[in-house]
Amino acid sequence: MAKAALLTLFGLGLTLLKDYQSTYEARLNAFREVEPVQPPNCKLVKGIETGSEDLEILPNGLTFISAVNNTVYLLVVNHPNMQCTVELFKFQPEEKSLLHLKTIRHKLLHSVNDIVAVGPEHFYATNDHYFVDPYLKSWELYLGLAWSNVVYYSPNEVQVVADGFDFANGINVSPDGKYVYIAELLTHKIHVYEKHPNWTLTLLKSLAVNTLVDNISVDPVTGDLWVGCHPDGMKIFHNLKSAPRSEVIQIQNILTEEPKVTQVYAENGTVLQGSTVAAVYKGKMLIGTVYQKALCCEL
Ligand SMILES: *[C@@H]1O[C@H](CO)[C@@H](O)[C@H](O)[C@H]1NC(C)=O
Ligand SMILES: *[C@@H]1O[C@H](CO)[C@@H](O)[C@H](O)[C@H]1NC(C)=O
Ligand SMILES: *[C@@H]1O[C@H](CO)[C@@H](O)[C@H](O)[C@H]1NC(C)=O
Ligand SMILES: *[C@@H]1O[C@H](CO)[C@@H](O)[C@H](O)[C@H]1NC(C)=O
Repeated sequence: MAKAALLTLFGLGLTLLKDYQSTYEARLNAFREVEPVQPPNCKLVKGIETGSEDLEILPNGLTFISAVNNTVYLLVVNHPNMQCTVELFKFQPEEKSLLHLKTIRHKLLHSVNDIVAVGPEHFYATNDHYFVDPYLKSWELYLGLAWSNVVYYSPNEVQVVADGFDFANGINVSPDGKYVYIAELLTHKIHVYEKHPNWTLTLLKSLAVNTLVDNISVDPVTGDLWVGCHPDGMKIFHNLKSAPRSEVIQIQNILTEEPKVTQVYAENGTVLQGSTVAAVYKGKMLIGTVYQKALCCEL
């Protein structure tokens, strides 16, 4: 009898796991095929072989760098010894160097993936997991607990401003500073939030794009979003034999009723593996990856 009960329990467990497994595969967009799409003229960037996750084109005041009274500050996410800090630097124009000002730590900044600066020491940050422990992190991911969140940080106030994400990833603001864009990796969505004077956020809309969305760059002139994507998360999260693929989408008119989503780049991993970010400048697009090369394309 006990054995039968045990077996039933075992069976139930298996069924549950099977359910999770298929949901998991759907969340990872496993086995999606991509047809190659490429702008006419693309070249690999020389000298970059082991990752180029972070790309920024830097006019005054864009994302990582905020210009306040002609002082340019740089905020960088750092993970020393599995911990999580944000490093603040000041740009020194004469010496063309960066001066390290301080290391920011806070218990609400526990698993930071991306940040967007809104002041010299003020930023929004995505925490891609709730847990810090790698083992618990992997269960959190597998079970799809959606406990990832977004935090507002300033020297005198730190608060969670949005939560319930299934892996909050890239974050950015609109050129006019009124809206915050958040990429939710495993629901394949870009969320648009209204930003209030008290720094809280209200969800305005969500756009589903059928690909795992990583970092978001915002064109400072047009306001278009350029998103580095993973067509198939299975290859990026699990070391399957075949290479992770790459994809870049451009989203125009995201605030209107009819946003336009264009696949600008797609490739099976032969040229570029695991694209995370794309940024455009003067008719050129740079694409960066987690641990591999970078590509420069004419648009
Ligand atoms: C891009 O995404 C990766 C992985 O999600 C993250 O580590 C990195 O900080 C992001 N880079 C930028 C420029 O947002
Ligand atoms: C810039 O302004 C901030 C806030 O008003 C102030 O704290 C800071 O010292 C100023 N920096 C410079 C270089 O003037
Ligand atoms: C922040 O501002 C929004 C919009 O004005 C308001 O709805 C909300 O109650 C405010 N929250 C706090 C904590 O003051
Ligand atoms: C990837 O695409 C290239 C060019 O279309 C093709 O030659 C190659 O066989 C493909 N590789 C895989 C692993 O699908």
